[in-house]
Amino acid sequence: MSRPRRVLDCGYGCGLWCTEVADAHPDCQTPDMTVMAIHNWICVLANMTVKVIGVDINPRQPDEVPDNLYLQLDDLNRRFTFSSHNFDLVHSHMMVSGIHTTRWTQYMRDMFRVTRPGGWCQMVEMYLHVQSDNGTLTDDHALRRWSDLYFESHEGLKDLRVPLRLPAMMREASFEHVEHRMVQLHTCAWSNDERDNAIGAANRENVQRMLSALAIYPFTERLGMAIQDVQLLVAQAKLEASNPAFKVTSSFPASRAKWSN
Ligand SMILES: C[S@@+](CC[C@H](N)C(=O)[O-])C[C@H]1O[C@@H](n2cnc3c(N)ncnc32)[C@H](O)[C@@H]1O
Repeated sequence: MSRPRRVLDCGYGCGLWCTEVADAHPDCQTPDMTVMAIHNWICVLANMTVKVIGVDINPRQPDEVPDNLYLQLDDLNRRFTFSSHNFDLVHSHMMVSGIHTTRWTQYMRDMFRVTRPGGWCQMVEMYLHVQSDNGTLTDDHALRRWSDLYFESHEGLKDLRVPLRLPAMMREASFEHVEHRMVQLHTCAWSNDERDNAIGAANRENVQRMLSALAIYPFTERLGMAIQDVQLLVAQAKLEASNPAFKVTSSFPASRAKWSN
């Protein structure tokens, strides 16, 4: 998409993506009011103003926010309040642990409703069922047990299998031209391919942090596990994830679709 005018980031997190988009498509605002008014007029006339809106339930803000980025506090588990056909691009990234199981169908419909005809919706999620490229990881390994417990701890609340159904759900919501890709990320540097090896090395630290950050609350509070047991499992899972011999990957289903006009 070369010149989006209005972009929506659903669950902006630390604001990295929406800040990059806003910076890449600066609007015409300047600090001088007179100049700004003239510039805005020109932009409105030329239909050039780019506005990026980020929504999150957590009110954290990046240190610096571009003039054309508007961060709003809202709950995406409620119906969107934006008017219909509002955005050229709607972006939803890693929202599977935020959107309620029962909300997904309507969440997709809401994203469709606010996308303008001809606009795009893009979604990337993480499917936390880790796999071993050489089959050495079994159900008895800590990483698999971590994964099973993670799914179990979200049952009835969040549907962690939604990432596998993104294309079908997009079509059901009336999007067309659905494209889907399963991106595999290595949990450490184990590949013979230079690029994949570098990505695995860069991802290692993310995985290590994620294994403890995602587990502590659901495992102790929802599954009633003792914190010592969780810490032991996490420590073992971290060792396996960073052991190149297991060749572990995690999956990131990525879909994008168009509101056909
Ligand atoms: C895993 S983070 C992903 C952040 C960002 N999209 C990214 O990929 O870096 C999930 C984000 O969704 C937000 N979130 C969770 N539930 C939400 C809800 N019901 N409404 C709005 N935001 C929510 C969280 O506060 C968090 O910032």
